[in-house]
Amino acid sequence: MGALDFSRRSTLDELMDTQPVDFEDFRACLVDLAQVNRLTLAHRPTFAFLERLVARGLRGLPKDRPLEVIDVGSGYGDMLRGIDAWARERGIAVSLTGVDLNPWSRRSAAEVTPPGRPITWVTADAFAYEPPGGIDVVLSSLFTHHLPDPVVVRFLAWMEAKARLGWFINDLHRHPLPYHFFRHLSRLAGWHRFVQHDGPVSIARAFSASDWRRLIAEAGLDPRAVEVRWWMPFRLTVGRLKVP
Ligand SMILES: C[S@@+](CC[C@H](N)C(=O)[O-])C[C@H]1O[C@@H](n2cnc3c(N)ncnc32)[C@H](O)[C@@H]1O
Repeated sequence: MGALDFSRRSTLDELMDTQPVDFEDFRACLVDLAQVNRLTLAHRPTFAFLERLVARGLRGLPKDRPLEVIDVGSGYGDMLRGIDAWARERGIAVSLTGVDLNPWSRRSAAEVTPPGRPITWVTADAFAYEPPGGIDVVLSSLFTHHLPDPVVVRFLAWMEAKARLGWFINDLHRHPLPYHFFRHLSRLAGWHRFVQHDGPVSIARAFSASDWRRLIAEAGLDPRAVEVRWWMPFRLTVGRLKVP
């Protein structure tokens, strides 16, 4: 990979999106990605968002239906399994759906999800997915950097239209420091070749805070209603709570 220009989003391809592999190989990539998520405290911002949602009166929701949450680009499903445990601890009834374009994501996530949990794994393009009960909250993690800018704008508008209570994007901050750090770490750790390649490429394809402000404006959203926030280590989140 030659010198990269971190002033703009890279258009380099991720192997995960372009290289056909068999199920075991893809699952091995997702298993390593879940380990990266644990090591980098990747889910922490999403839980903080859900805590804020709860604090804003989630308990005022009708008691006869669960909170409908979807995770777009759910991969191995570690995020939703964590949310299931989080909701159980708080006595919040949830209905969780992981939507992922790749059928092997559904299969790998289902394999490690205990039976009887309120989680459904669906193979679909998120934009075409119409859940029967509607959606309260749309979440995603490490998803938006896969999309070109016009599709990110479409995704923002789509979430704003679909999510009754709010939505939250959890993704990476484009910066040379994590790019080089992760390149070395992933090789030392011997992670899956996709993770070694796609990790740094994901950082180069990711966003700056000003990118997000521009994309939010292009999606026609009120910038005062959307929070863009930086998190250790080099994550940028974009959150919208519709609950007053
Ligand atoms: C880097 S993985 C992230 C997995 C997981 N969210 C995580 O944080 O570990 C991105 C996922 O997005 C999925 N994806 C890409 N485009 C999608 C689309 N239009 N609809 C649903 N899933 C999509 C891919 O199949 C892939 O599993």
